[in-house]
Amino acid sequence: MRFILLGAPGSGKGTQAKSLGEHYNLERISLGDILRQEVKNESELGRKVKTYMEKGLLVPDEIISLVVAKHIHSDDFILDGYPRNLAQAKELDVILGKKKISLDFAVYLEVNEETMLKRLSGRRVCPHCDANYHIENMPPQKEGVCDLCGCKLLLRRDDKPEVIRKRWEVFVSENMPLRGYYKEKQKLIVIDANGEASEVLQNITDKLNGKQ
Ligand code: AP5
Repeated sequence: MRFILLGAPGSGKGTQAKSLGEHYNLERISLGDILRQEVKNESELGRKVKTYMEKGLLVPDEIISLVVAKHIHSDDFILDGYPRNLAQAKELDVILGKKKISLDFAVYLEVNEETMLKRLSGRRVCPHCDANYHIENMPPQKEGVCDLCGCKLLLRRDDKPEVIRKRWEVFVSENMPLRGYYKEKQKLIVIDANGEASEVLQNITDKLNGKQ
């Protein structure tokens, strides 16, 4: 099975991709995580993408398509955070076409603006091991400290209020058209993702199991 997770910043793509990867034993390819790792490593790619990410803008398509093609290793996977616009969706069709495969589903995690704001402003990340927390919904055992490695938790650089606003604007203008694109291809599955993570996961697996 291969599918993509679409949705606004904070809709839970990363959280659900992780659980779904374990549930279905699928490779998880998270564009945001890959790019953040490159920035952390101060690689050539990391230097190229850093400013776009810090401003909440999309990294140029030509850079992204090279990264994606390099990371799709098997025929079964979950793509989290790609595609984000129509050009990337068409490019993905080309990448998969070369492998003589196509997407099974596009799972769209729908959240309202209030949920998005609450989740992003409360998210805390570990700069050392990249573990992800939320101050209310998924708090660490000791406030401000990573359960896994004991490092001090931080606000993600693009979770500052002004950058969150920009990311939401970019999502509305660039990402929204993808719903129509995948609906037309009869691959779209829309999930109400405002609820608890376990509830959202159950809804996704129910829908996917029903369609297989
Ligand atoms: P990326 O990291 O993908 O950012 P994003 O799309 O803005 O998504 P987020 O990671 O903020 O949120 P999410 O939906 O994964 O939610 P999460 O599970 O973390 O990309 C970062 C940047 O990289 C982009 O801005 C861009 O610059 C660049 N980039 C990436 N892909 C690109 C592409 N294809 N093209 C061009 N540029 C690209 O959850 C958020 C918080 O909420 C967490 O604290 C979590 O614990 C909590 N939470 C999650 N689900 C629930 C729930 N159900 N209930 C309560 N809390 C929850």
